Amino acid sequence: MARVAIVTGGTRGIGEAISLALQEQGVLVAANYGGNDAKARAFSERTGIKSYKWDVSDYDACQKGVELVEAELGPVDIVVNNAGITRDGTILKMSYQDWKDVIDTNLGGCFNMAKATFPGMRARQWGRIVNIGSINGQAGQYGQVNYAAAKSGIHGFTKALAQEGAKAGVTVNAIAPGYIDTEMVAAVPQDVLAKIVAKVPVGRLGMAQEIARGVAFLCAEDAGFVTGSTLSINGGQHMY
Ligand code: CAA
Repeated sequence: MARVAIVTGGTRGIGEAISLALQEQGVLVAANYGGNDAKARAFSERTGIKSYKWDVSDYDACQKGVELVEAELGPVDIVVNNAGITRDGTILKMSYQDWKDVIDTNLGGCFNMAKATFPGMRARQWGRIVNIGSINGQAGQYGQVNYAAAKSGIHGFTKALAQEGAKAGVTVNAIAPGYIDTEMVAAVPQDVLAKIVAKVPVGRLGMAQEIARGVAFLCAEDAGFVTGSTLSINGGQHMY
């Protein structure tokens, strides 16, 4: 029987590449998405991967979403917490809502999805959870107190849950991407982005597939001894 995975934010950007990489590995993938119906529909038609709409910042919606995936595809073995948003701005300009939205989605989403899936993985003695952190959670970033705090929280969350899952065959790891060629990074002002890329030793933005490759490795059957780790994929921009 194929493993079943949920990839949050799995129909676009890095999430799309992750969904495809897991599918290639023989995993039955459910791609969650939050809002863009047209892109999700196009993704599902193109790839044959079913897409499921719910808001990962909503605890009850995660419970219901996972129930639906389990009814249609089977028990969830793998969760990739990839859904994330930015609301960049210096703290002087950042509203409370900008803070809350980013924390609730990027970090709260990891908690909500783990609450809905970790007990089943533990009961079946096999699971893989991969959380997408960020270089900006490791190093900080001007204009991102919300995002950096959420992503940094993801790294702590990962190490704590890894300890809880270890004896039950559930590994929990994080990937810390650098600047990847996605819509999120394209939204950074051109001049600001040019300065950031100039500091990347590899000399370019990363590709979504380069993150997906790492996720596929961490989700593999023979990756059971890798847990609580953070894999940095950032072109050498930050060596942690
Ligand atoms: N360090 C120190 N000072 C900085 C700075 C930095 N990194 N960046 C900007 N400043 C200074 C500027 O020099 C400027 O100073 P002066 O007023 O003295 O000239 C001041 O801060 C204001 O700068 P801006 O004009 O840029 O201010 P703004 O309010 O228009 O925009 C901002 C601020 C929204 C934070 C903008 O600079 C920005 O978008 N920065 C990029 C943030 C970023 O990297 N986001 C990543 C998104 S992608 C992502 O998050 C994915 C991932 O995981 C990597």
